[in-house]
Amino acid sequence: MTIGDMGFYNIEDLRQKAKKRLPKGVFEYIDLGAEDYIALRNNRTAYEELKTKNRVLIDVSKRSTETQIFNNKIKMPYGISPTASAGLTNYGGEIDLARAAQRMGVVCTAATSALTPMEEIWDAAGGENLWFQLYMWVDKELRMKFVENIQAVGYKTLIVTVDGPVGANREHNNRNGYSMPLRYSPQLVSGILAKPGWCFRVLLKQYLKRGSFQKENYPEELNKKLTQLDLASGTKQIKPDMQCWDDIKRIQEIWKGNLLIKGLQSAEDAVLAAEMGLDGVVLSNHGGRYVDNAPSPLQVTAETRAAVGKDFRIIIDSGPRRGSDIVKALACGANMVMSGRPTLYGVAAAGEAGAYRALEIFYTEMDRIMAQLGLNSVDEIGPQIFWNPPDWVPQPKLGLKVAAE
Ligand code: FNR
Ligand code: LAC
Repeated sequence: MTIGDMGFYNIEDLRQKAKKRLPKGVFEYIDLGAEDYIALRNNRTAYEELKTKNRVLIDVSKRSTETQIFNNKIKMPYGISPTASAGLTNYGGEIDLARAAQRMGVVCTAATSALTPMEEIWDAAGGENLWFQLYMWVDKELRMKFVENIQAVGYKTLIVTVDGPVGANREHNNRNGYSMPLRYSPQLVSGILAKPGWCFRVLLKQYLKRGSFQKENYPEELNKKLTQLDLASGTKQIKPDMQCWDDIKRIQEIWKGNLLIKGLQSAEDAVLAAEMGLDGVVLSNHGGRYVDNAPSPLQVTAETRAAVGKDFRIIIDSGPRRGSDIVKALACGANMVMSGRPTLYGVAAAGEAGAYRALEIFYTEMDRIMAQLGLNSVDEIGPQIFWNPPDWVPQPKLGLKVAAE
């Protein structure tokens, strides 16, 4: 598939196209965050605040963005975060994401709350770099059976999301009528009717091929048990007392592959995860979709790295939109960066090709900034790239010598 740039020169171009093509309720579900969008905005300003210095006259002709995660080669230290309901951006949108990631050679994470069954995603693009994200259902028996099923399908890396003990406060969903399953309220319907292209591309195809939109990985009994309101948040079925470290331990006992937890924002919790022998953490504020006063994961990366030591895997998501953001995150101490929205915008804009375009944008931008900063490999990325960094960034040791008179 040769696609060219399709007129999309950056992630914002894809976002604008997604906005044009998706019903208001669907676009806002993807694009917006919780409450006053403070965390959502801060996820961007944290990256934008960091300034990097170019270095000149260094031979960068053999530079590479390539690295490894869990001993598997990846084209760049970037992965697609799990996102519920990707199938609303295009019919089978989850498969578009997984295929695009496979073609680029980066990680993609399939979600518990996908609208496409996990088996179909695996069949389309299975492999070491296709990971799975778990939401812990209240019913422990169902939950553990689900974990066994994920393993049986072939997934080798499991991310357990732990930041949703209660549903999020997203007022825009109430205003625009979005929920999952879709309830065809007047607000939602007016948003849908305004996008006839989406009705053919997504809605009609869905009803002809699969029936109404459903969380396809949920057992029927669970899908039935949940109220529509519970499903709107995706996580209200998880009660606070149902999520604790012992639950992670139980999963650890049966999961044979790599196990990570996602959604923590503190060095304290990362240390607990490391002490438990997990394979890593995904520092995340869920893209500003839960705790509105959360710090950006980028802002807590350095202190977390200092607390867990150099060998424990730290992945961060929430906010990257440029290749330079990947470099900044690594310089703060992350091993890999993820995000969910950029490739969702891509799928909404142009299906699999659009998701691939999003990845290509990250790749070309990362390659370019590495050359500009005089970096030849991912291992060379460090705090020396920063100019006048704020105190939450590891301070560069410049080692400058004053020339003798
Ligand atoms: C998400 N996210 C998410 N996370 C998760 O663990 N399970 C899920 O089902 C979902 N669902 C979901 C849906 C949508 C539409 C979005 C945008 C996000 C959070 C996701 O994994 C990731 O943490 C954020 O997307 C990171 O923010 P950015 O970088 O994409 O802005
Ligand atoms: C969300 C949930 C499903 O962020 O994770 O919408």
